[in-house]
Amino acid sequence: MPGEVLIAYATKYGSTVEVAEAIAKTLERAGIATDLRDARSVGDLRGYHAVVFGAPLYNARMLRAGRRFLARHHRELAGMPVAVFALGPLGTSEEERATTQKQFDRSLAHRSEIRPLSTALFGGVIDQSKLRFPDKLASPLRPLFPFTDVRDWDAIEAWATGLVDALSLRKQN
Ligand SMILES: Cc1cc2nc3c(=O)[nH]c(=O)nc-3n(C[C@H](O)[C@H](O)[C@H](O)COP(=O)(O)O)c2cc1C
Repeated sequence: MPGEVLIAYATKYGSTVEVAEAIAKTLERAGIATDLRDARSVGDLRGYHAVVFGAPLYNARMLRAGRRFLARHHRELAGMPVAVFALGPLGTSEEERATTQKQFDRSLAHRSEIRPLSTALFGGVIDQSKLRFPDKLASPLRPLFPFTDVRDWDAIEAWATGLVDALSLRKQN
């Protein structure tokens, strides 16, 4: 039987954690054991069958805690089933998605030894009232919308469901 699946996330304001939690719940419902962790608290990857890793995009690249996770574990990740998701776009236009998709692709290209079996880019969240300095000044949607949440929970659940096959997580009988 495959071992546990690590679901590791990097986050600054919490929206990526909620997506990671939803992915964990979907996998758990499919009978797969998961271990949900802040990427900074992951020691080593021994004992995990596969890794699902998620991080938001900030200033055109992956959040630093996410980049550090990939840097710290790149050797292990290169030899195991991995899926990666990112949060980013705050609008739903094709143009915005294409721009952020490029940012995501570039972030992964820095670690080309890691070959994710599945990747996904999901819409993000911005709550102007919670932003701290200097994000308050740099916020991409300021001052248009005080609160935006374009996470597509159906798309997130569909992607998580697809991971069962993509990462070969089905129980062997
Ligand atoms: C200061 C700032 C810069 C951002 N820069 C980008 C960016 O370059 N590309 C992008 O796709 N999203 C960008 N975003 C959107 C975030 O990725 C989105 O808000 C995400 O949901 C944040 O995740 P978190 O709540 O887990 O920190 C930015 C958000 C902020 C506040």
